[in-house]
Amino acid sequence: MPFASGDAGKGATLFKTRCAQCHTLGAGEGNKVGPNLHGLIGRKTGQVEGFSYTSANVNKGVVWGEDTLFEYLENPKKYIPGTKMAFAGLKKEKDRNDLITHLKEATK
Ligand code: HEC
Repeated sequence: MPFASGDAGKGATLFKTRCAQCHTLGAGEGNKVGPNLHGLIGRKTGQVEGFSYTSANVNKGVVWGEDTLFEYLENPKKYIPGTKMAFAGLKKEKDRNDLITHLKEATK
């Protein structure tokens, strides 16, 4: 199953509870444990200035979009072996659809 548009409101709640301790979304907001995700969609992996990525994340070299995020967020350590992102993944397709729907708006 590829990405399908979901519920942005539920996605915002998921972001708050699962991602916000490590990531910000707004323009000019700082990096936390993870990089700021502003402008994520359409950008290659590992491009945020001043964030110290693993070479695994940088060298993945894909462009972040609906389908790459859909696969990554299911199991980050499988998609990018060697990543330091300590997150087990969102196993439910619906959760990933809702979260990515939110990210597409909130990272603009
Ligand atoms: C415990 C902290 C932590 C949590 C929770 C976390 N992340 Fe991350 N994330 C990181 C770190 C650290 C990296 C950088 C990984 C590397 O360099 O190997 C990262 C990298 C990323 C990247 C790649 C960014 C780029 O510029 O290539 C994306 C996208 C991402 N995270 C999204 C999410 C989303 C969405 C969630 C919630 C579902 C989440 N992360 C949860 C710490 C976290």
